[in-house]
Amino acid sequence: MKKKILIFDTTLRDGEQSPGMSMNVGEKLRVAEQLAKLQVDIIEAGFPASSEGDFESVKAVARSIRGPAIVGLARTGLKDIDRAWEAVKCAEKPTIHTFIATSDIHLKYKLNKSRKQVLEDTVRAVSHAKAYCPMVEFSAEDATRSDPDYLCQVFEAAIKAGATTINIPDTVGYSIPDEFASLIKYVRNNVPGIKGVTISVHCHNDLGLAVANSISAIKAGARQVECTINGIGERAGNTSMEEIVMAINTRKDIFKLTTNINTRHIYPASRLLSHITGIAVQPNKAIVGANAFAHEAGIHQDGLLKERQTYEIMTPESIGLPSHTLVMGKHSGRHAFRERLKSLGYDLSNDNMEKAFRRFKALADKKKQIYDEDLEAIVADEVLRIPERYKLVSINVTSGSETIPTATVQLEIDGKVIKDAGFGDGPVDAAYNTIAKITRTKSKLLRFSINAISKGTDAQGGVTVNLEEGGKTAIGQGAHTDIIVASAKAYINALNKMEYRKKRRRRGP
Ligand code: KIV
Ligand code: ZN
Repeated sequence: MKKKILIFDTTLRDGEQSPGMSMNVGEKLRVAEQLAKLQVDIIEAGFPASSEGDFESVKAVARSIRGPAIVGLARTGLKDIDRAWEAVKCAEKPTIHTFIATSDIHLKYKLNKSRKQVLEDTVRAVSHAKAYCPMVEFSAEDATRSDPDYLCQVFEAAIKAGATTINIPDTVGYSIPDEFASLIKYVRNNVPGIKGVTISVHCHNDLGLAVANSISAIKAGARQVECTINGIGERAGNTSMEEIVMAINTRKDIFKLTTNINTRHIYPASRLLSHITGIAVQPNKAIVGANAFAHEAGIHQDGLLKERQTYEIMTPESIGLPSHTLVMGKHSGRHAFRERLKSLGYDLSNDNMEKAFRRFKALADKKKQIYDEDLEAIVADEVLRIPERYKLVSINVTSGSETIPTATVQLEIDGKVIKDAGFGDGPVDAAYNTIAKITRTKSKLLRFSINAISKGTDAQGGVTVNLEEGGKTAIGQGAHTDIIVASAKAYINALNKMEYRKKRRRRGP
């Protein structure tokens, strides 16, 4: 029987920590559901002590997701660990992940602690976590820049205190594959008690080596890889889940290893995450980029037509990439609609399906051909919707080379329709100024991006905005065949998210 590599997904923790990636509870739950479909072994759902919002999200994931173990991250402070336990305790397989830095650089400049103090903190934290639950992971932050002998000492103490997994992070993405493999072997050979625990690795991609380092570590005996969908994460990101999983799968001949991942859910997971965060995947990204299975050169196309294996080392179907993207038009019925969504990885409730179907019909009246990307935009809009304080009733904008861009907007706020007009430097600016005037909000626009969701001049425009108000940010998205309407919808969506968050804070967890 082949040996298993455990997939520890940290999209909702390390991934969500990176700029522009923050998600609300509903969005995190949706990603967690997709991770469960992928059959990841472990979901790190967040860092409960870091904020009320994170605590709530971890708790919601722990309550509703079955299958994978659910992890809450904690520093070594006992209050952090209590909070992590409080958040994960209702999970089927609750796990506490506690960490402290072990490199002299971190000890001196960040923690201001001696090696002895860090060792004591480790033992106290792991013992405290172990009293709550049988599964405890311990991470030595900045392990790759730590003195290897001290690192082994800390791991030995963590294992004695009850850690079931020890994690070796390349926190700053500094290591090189051979060097990282040597460190893994050194730890395996020099930590008493290591045989009974899982060795995990957690690599960052600052030098573009996160996947290569993780693979080297596996070859050296690591049995758990921490990774994220689309490789998101602090700075240059983490090991990309789809890349490590497909490398193990495609090169079974070398690794003689396997994972539990149902690879057919990889592509829908990647799409879902970029929809939610509004961060597009680069076209040449391995496995899930738009060009990953596109063959442009004539010689390649010819070879492929003769025999797929000539230029294809894995099939698009194996990652759940739909082989045809043109789906439906206005005559398509409910059954076809439901089946198509299912093949894209969306299993909606009857209620959500009905709402999405109505939106699809309305779009099909405007647009002849509906693509998978259009359907994804509809689902994201309907299913991931949060309660809306502000609703767009209508918007009209005049602009051009000889006129001052002017917007007239009608919004429904708490059930009352309010109308106003305003100017701007361009049509989007005019629309946003007017919406801000009506809603009496003062958000700063940090990011605005617009993309054609599918092909053709009648394609829907997909707009993503990132707003900031009082130190809090929110991502908003909107899709429409008219790009000014799409822009207004995205702005209003972000304002609604801000409102929703404020309300939840007022109510408490
Ligand atoms: O990069 C890192 O060291 C981490 C730890 C908390 C595991 O994210
Ligand atoms: Zn990390």
